[in-house]
Amino acid sequence: MRILITNIGELTTNTPAPELVEGGDDVCGTLHDAAVLIDGDRIVWVGPAADAPGVVERAFPGVVERAPAQPERDETRASDELTVVDAAGRAVIPGFVDSHSHLVFGGDRAAEFEARMAGQKYAAGGIRSTVAATRAANDDELRIRLRGFLDEMLAQGTTTVEIKSGYGLDVATEERLVRLAAEVTPEVTFLGAHVVPAEYADRGDEYVDLVTGPMLDACAPHAKWIDVFCETGAFTVPQSRRVLEAGIARGLQPRVHASQLGPGEGVQLAVELGAASIDHGTYLTDEDVTALAGSDTVLTLLPGVEFSTRQPYPDARRLIDAGVTVALACDTNPGSSFTSSMPFCIAVAVRDMRMTVAEAIHAATAGGAAALRRDDIGRIAPGMRADLVLLKTPSRVHLAYRPGVPLVDAVWKDGVRAV
Ligand code: NIG
Ligand code: FE
Repeated sequence: MRILITNIGELTTNTPAPELVEGGDDVCGTLHDAAVLIDGDRIVWVGPAADAPGVVERAFPGVVERAPAQPERDETRASDELTVVDAAGRAVIPGFVDSHSHLVFGGDRAAEFEARMAGQKYAAGGIRSTVAATRAANDDELRIRLRGFLDEMLAQGTTTVEIKSGYGLDVATEERLVRLAAEVTPEVTFLGAHVVPAEYADRGDEYVDLVTGPMLDACAPHAKWIDVFCETGAFTVPQSRRVLEAGIARGLQPRVHASQLGPGEGVQLAVELGAASIDHGTYLTDEDVTALAGSDTVLTLLPGVEFSTRQPYPDARRLIDAGVTVALACDTNPGSSFTSSMPFCIAVAVRDMRMTVAEAIHAATAGGAAALRRDDIGRIAPGMRADLVLLKTPSRVHLAYRPGVPLVDAVWKDGVRAV
C-alpha cells in the first residue's frame, strides 16, 4: 500500500543534501510545504508538495482525504492503492530512535525517588531492589509491562527502542530478559554486568567470570549488543574490559554506561574498543571529549537521569562544539529515569543542556540511529524505513516550547499507521 503525506508545513528530513534542503547548515534538513510518499515499509519519495509524483490527481481527482483514525488492517486492498494524508500545514519528523532503555523489570522504586527528592543521593546499589522484584516476576508479567511501555513510547513518537537486560543478574533471569526483549526489538543489549548482585558481594571478579561464561552463553543468541556499567560501585575498568572483550569475541557489539556518577576511564575504554556509544557522560574530562570527538563512538545523553537524580546536567554545547556526535535517549528504568517520553527529554536537553531545538530533535532521531549503527532509520529520505511522526503543531520547536503537552497526532512505523 502507498501513502502520500502532503501539505507538510515543516518536514524534518535530517538529510542535508542540497537538492532536498532549503537552508545551508540546518542540521535537521528542513523542507517547507513538503510531501512524503511511502510504499510498503519504505519511503520512496520526498520533496516539495507541488512536485509530488502526480499521484494525488491520478488516484483521487480533486480529492485529498485524511487517513483513517485506526491503523489500516485490510490485507485485501490492492498494493498500489493510495491513502492521502493532509498534514494541514503541520510538522512531520522522523520517528524517535530511543537507543537506551531498561524496559524489562518488576516492581518500581517510587519510595526511593521520593526520598531522593527529599535529599537522598542516588547510588548504583538501588539496582539490587529491582533485581529482587524482577526475579520474582514471571514471563507474562514482564511481557505485559514491557509491551505497555512500548505502547506508551509509540504514542509519544518513538518508533525504535533499544532494550537492555540487567535486572536479572543470574543466568536464568538474564536469559529471560534478553529473550523477552528480543520479542519486540532487534536492538537487544546484554547487560549482565549492571551491578554485582548481593550473593556475589565482595566477589566482583567471580561474578564477572559468571557474566563472561555461562551467562554470556545463554544470552548471546538473543542479543546484538554487550554493555557494562563502568562506574564506582559497579564494575572497575579491568572488569569492564573483560566483559566487553568477551562479548565482542561472541560477535556482540560494545556499548558502555560510564561517567554517570563521577569521572572515570570508561569513556577511554569505550573509544579504544570501538564502542558504538558511551551513555550518560555526566562527568566528562577534556581528554574524554577529545577522545570522543576523534572517534566513531556516539555520546548518548540521558537528560531524564540528571532530572530524576538531581545531578548536574552535562553541557551538550561543549560536546557538540568539540565535534562529538550526540544522541538523546530516555534511559527508561525504575531507578534513575522513569520517563518514556522523548519529547520530555528534548525539552530538558534544550532548557538545561544548551542544545538548540534542532540539535535536540536531530540527536533524538538521527543521533539515536548513529548510536545503534543503523542507516535505515532516523531520517526521512528515499530508501529509509517509513517511520514518521505527524505533530499537532506547525513546528518541531513546540516539542520543547510546550513541555509536558501531548503533541503527537499520528505515527507510522514501517509504513503502517500505529497511532
Ligand atoms: O542507566 N547506570 C546504570 N543503570 C541505570 C540505572 C538503573 C537503576 O537505577 O535501576 C541507568 O541509569
Ligand atoms: Fe542505563
